[in-house]
Amino acid sequence: MAGPLHSAMESPIVVASNRGPVSFERNEDGKLVARRGSGGLVTVLGGVLERDDATWVAAAVTEGDREVAPRGRKLEGAAQRVRYVDIPEDRYDGYYNGIANGLLWFAHHYLWDLPRNPSFGERTEHEWADYVEANRAFARTLAAESKQDPVYLIQDYHLTLVPRMLRELVPEARILHFSHTPFAGRTYLRTLPVEIRSEMLRGMLGADVVGFQGRQWGENFLLSARELDEVHVDIRAHRADVDGREVQVRSFPVAVGAFEIREASQSDRAERLRTQVEKIRGGRRLLLRVDRLEPSKNILRGFLAFELFLQKHTEWRGKVVFLALLSPSREEVPAYRDYGRDCRAAADRINAAFGKEDWTPIVLKVQEDFTYAVAAYANYDAMVVNPVHDGMNLVAMEGPIVNAHGGVLILSRNAGAFGRLGRHALAINPFDLSETADAINEALQMPDEERTRRARGLQRSALAHTPATWLAGQLRAIDEVRTPSE
Ligand code: F6P
Repeated sequence: MAGPLHSAMESPIVVASNRGPVSFERNEDGKLVARRGSGGLVTVLGGVLERDDATWVAAAVTEGDREVAPRGRKLEGAAQRVRYVDIPEDRYDGYYNGIANGLLWFAHHYLWDLPRNPSFGERTEHEWADYVEANRAFARTLAAESKQDPVYLIQDYHLTLVPRMLRELVPEARILHFSHTPFAGRTYLRTLPVEIRSEMLRGMLGADVVGFQGRQWGENFLLSARELDEVHVDIRAHRADVDGREVQVRSFPVAVGAFEIREASQSDRAERLRTQVEKIRGGRRLLLRVDRLEPSKNILRGFLAFELFLQKHTEWRGKVVFLALLSPSREEVPAYRDYGRDCRAAADRINAAFGKEDWTPIVLKVQEDFTYAVAAYANYDAMVVNPVHDGMNLVAMEGPIVNAHGGVLILSRNAGAFGRLGRHALAINPFDLSETADAINEALQMPDEERTRRARGLQRSALAHTPATWLAGQLRAIDEVRTPSE
């Protein structure tokens, strides 16, 4: 394969992800206005790309996006352009709800109750066909951007087939696939139907660089890829050889943009919301959690651990409020809906058992409101981040960047963020309710000096990396595999 003319650092960037940085809607005056997309991916990539020569290709989710789709649109006040892939609604359902979030999400986060779930049949076959076609539609749109010899950055489990499909359309393309999630171990991945598993692996191997949040997930990927015919894997060298091409498997842990989050926290609205949070606290200690409402976040066990804490440490009854800010997520998928219902029921039950007229132990708010979360970050005494498994978990970094109250972080050892923040946090096994309850107790009792020391360590570690360095690491890796000609 001939070398590219320019280094990846100097080349235009084309990002592809299911959810875009903005979504277009018509306002009352009939004008198309852009609304910020939700989720961690947008938080990380949005900030870093705004100032760059970049095109962001995403699936159309609103009628406004569909209108913008054919030609794309430049974002107001930014150098960035957005383009949308118009996937018919019924296909989108099989691709996004069925395969991406109903199946791959569960596989990579180890969420199945294996004696009962999953079972695959005709429905999975149809949904898989939708997933293949949605990925193909992305690949075609991306190929149409190939004239300027860009670097393609393909995001996440929604688009695992795109690198290979794009390579077939544009053989010389420079492609990186990045997973924001964990990647399932070889044995667990074998739960998937064999075609889905091997197509997904081969699809990702279409890239020059396959990126993960942590080294262990890259190794999981290579251990599974090693089983494919005609793929040669060298685990030590983090490398696979496919069709005469070298594929590098690397880790690029994501980071949070301090500027954006501090700006949000200094807004007038955040100021007003802080007053609301203080009302909820009512002079008590504040325990906080901020999550998308979905099973990998382990919200239910978080509530059960809090219940155990109130049972064991009766002296804290009436003196602490657990504020849970949960944004609705993927409610079309029954397993997510059921999980949300179970979380609410647990909170109601605990409130009924322990609450008093002037004290609600768990205050649960299901809302999509980033500024509210940022406002709550300012003054928590302790924050619970206890995912079952998580690629990184940005909340674990956002909280300490904003918190000015010596807030303690209770952190799952299974969150990617643990590698960066673990030594300053209280570490927990997310399945161990006793350990989590004890950590809550320890956090609330911690002497001020230790709280301050830990909080400073958390903030330093969260600020040591930026989305810009994360992106630069990926571009450097592309250059190593596809060395420019000069
Ligand atoms: O954590 C994985 C991820 O895909 C992120 O990259 C993304 O921001 C988040 O989940 C949100 O998911 P959704 O777009 O389904 O709301």
